[in-house]
Amino acid sequence: RHRWTRQVESMASFPSGAGKISDSNAVILGEAIASEEKDLVLPSHDFSGQALIPSQHKYLEMYRRSIEDPAGFWSDIALSELYWKKKWGDEVYSENLHVNQGNIKIQWFKGGITNMCYNCLDRNIHAGLGNKIALYWESNEPGFDSHLTYSHLLHRVCQLANYLKSIGVRKGDAVVVYLPMLLELPISMLACARIGALHSVVFAGFSSDSLAQRIVDCRPKVVITCNAVKRGPKTIHLKDIVDAALIESAKDGVSIDVCLTYDNQSTLKRESTKWQEGRDIWWQDVVPTHPTTCEVEWVDAEDPLFLLYTSGSTGRPKGVVHTTGGYMVYTATTFKYGFDYKESDVYWYWCTADCGWITGHSYVTYGPLLNGATVVVYEGAPNYPDSGRCWDIVDKYKVTIFYTAPTLYVTSYSRKSLRVLGSAGEPINPSAWRCPISDTWWQTETGGIMITPLPGAWPQKPGSATFPFFGVQPVIMDEKGNEIDGECSGYLCVKGSWPGAFRTLYGDHERYETTYFRPFPGYYFTGDGCSRDKDGYYWLTGRVDDVINVSGHRIGTAEVESALVSHPQCAEAAVVGVEHEVKGQGIYAFVTIVEGVSYSEQLRKSLVLAVRNQIGAFAAPDKIHWAPALPKTRSGKIMRRILRKIAARQFDELGDTSTLAESGVVDQLIALAGS
Ligand code: WTA
Repeated sequence: RHRWTRQVESMASFPSGAGKISDSNAVILGEAIASEEKDLVLPSHDFSGQALIPSQHKYLEMYRRSIEDPAGFWSDIALSELYWKKKWGDEVYSENLHVNQGNIKIQWFKGGITNMCYNCLDRNIHAGLGNKIALYWESNEPGFDSHLTYSHLLHRVCQLANYLKSIGVRKGDAVVVYLPMLLELPISMLACARIGALHSVVFAGFSSDSLAQRIVDCRPKVVITCNAVKRGPKTIHLKDIVDAALIESAKDGVSIDVCLTYDNQSTLKRESTKWQEGRDIWWQDVVPTHPTTCEVEWVDAEDPLFLLYTSGSTGRPKGVVHTTGGYMVYTATTFKYGFDYKESDVYWYWCTADCGWITGHSYVTYGPLLNGATVVVYEGAPNYPDSGRCWDIVDKYKVTIFYTAPTLYVTSYSRKSLRVLGSAGEPINPSAWRCPISDTWWQTETGGIMITPLPGAWPQKPGSATFPFFGVQPVIMDEKGNEIDGECSGYLCVKGSWPGAFRTLYGDHERYETTYFRPFPGYYFTGDGCSRDKDGYYWLTGRVDDVINVSGHRIGTAEVESALVSHPQCAEAAVVGVEHEVKGQGIYAFVTIVEGVSYSEQLRKSLVLAVRNQIGAFAAPDKIHWAPALPKTRSGKIMRRILRKIAARQFDELGDTSTLAESGVVDQLIALAGS
């Protein structure tokens, strides 16, 4: 085995965040730590030799500057890597993160004039990448594919941008995009960015109710969708879902003038697609008639780029708002270093995430295209027609960087091409692979990767996201809101702002402040629990609020509960997350039914259906646990802590049950657990 002999600096005296690697000032990386840590996985010499950040020393040098001089660090990157029509004013950034000192405000590069689409496409084309492939598209059906070079992508984006302008979409208007993973999805995002409109992509697995809710909240000028999509063996009529959503949203006073519908020809005939003349327009009938060039709408760095709804612990989904300049600089930089991407190479990059989630925004569309990368966009399910499909695609496109959420075990395929494997939300054991794995921690709100291994820079511990990215200062807090040092666990917060941070919740700045900045004044609160080990590695321990993550889909338990109680026979519901072998977390629902009704298999099915209809199939509970009563405190609060233990079948770890209003309830639930 190769022996690492590089000396590393201690991280002990380091600006908050990085923690420490070792107590001694100089250790031999690998030997010293590996002797006590069986699970430590060292970067290979070959990989580190060519990595952008080849050593801990280099990381520390850059990290230190990013914390001590954020303005200098980020403006150097912004100026050298991206195009600005006009440079920002004197201040690179300004921030107030303290609720007691006025409104929460984060600004980066304010006064700088730029455009995201220009930076993704025109800038790269001017640099000679016009004929490079920007996007490969792989259909749900093996054997069908297509691709677009940077120049062709620009043409397609301009045609759509011109069409959108022709129907009156202007800077600052919202556009809802309800599309599956067709090339038209990133094209729609880029076209909006080109004209300064905000895209609001809604994951095409959401139901009509959820889509309607988002349409009502952001009042778009137009909705972009397609007639149907094949997901695995099933055909899903997306246009029908949009039709139903538009009827719902009209009831709330939001009517949509234009529904631009892409004819996804392999799925459903035009004649069979339900149509509302005057409102519905086929993409293919109008978009290609527009010119292939379109002037750029230059925007301020702080003008919004998009909104993306995400689930919180209570109430309606929140419209997370990202602005242009900071998000652009942050996604470009995190993509480059997080995946060790090099412009000079022709690397093909594949992120299995859907553009309906933040991962697809930052690491399918913006991060890779800003770097001039070649991206694989895949329409279908990772296990269709069988579980080898993922690796077929890796082999077919010679993917070198693969960023994925699902747990994938298949090893019978070659994977020869892979250089870096990334995962979000779940640990994968890197020792089973011949390439470094990036276990990245971040959130819709953070815009980009926050805590991540930099492949090649330091040894990994499976299950740990390791160390903070440049400019990120994670801190662990105790209950009372004190920062705790060293080996500890508590609430994960972030100190200071970073360029990719979200700026507000759409139309609800107060909720932004209350949810994220009030719990620990002066800090951004992530909603996650976290521990830091003796070597300074960060370990995410899961949400501390009522949000769960199912196969990379973020779901608020409150939303599932409200869908369940909308069922006429459901009196009360409490939903918790439970460990799930494949999905990471599964959805476990305790349900009390109305008096006089008896629990049956049929009722179970119709409860699950209620959730599918109101949110989407991906939020369907894995388990309905009939609960004659729920465990509550004397003041009527449901004791979720106990429910989580019952769901996990940890009956002897229920903890303190003395505050229960009725003690018999728990025994009753345990008795029913098997049923
Ligand atoms: C969870 C996804 C453990 C976390 C990019 C966070 C993780 C939520 C990790 C955000 C990780 C993300 N290890 N947990 N490496 N990465 N999470 O907004 O609970 O869909 O708060 O963004 O996913 O989910 P979101």
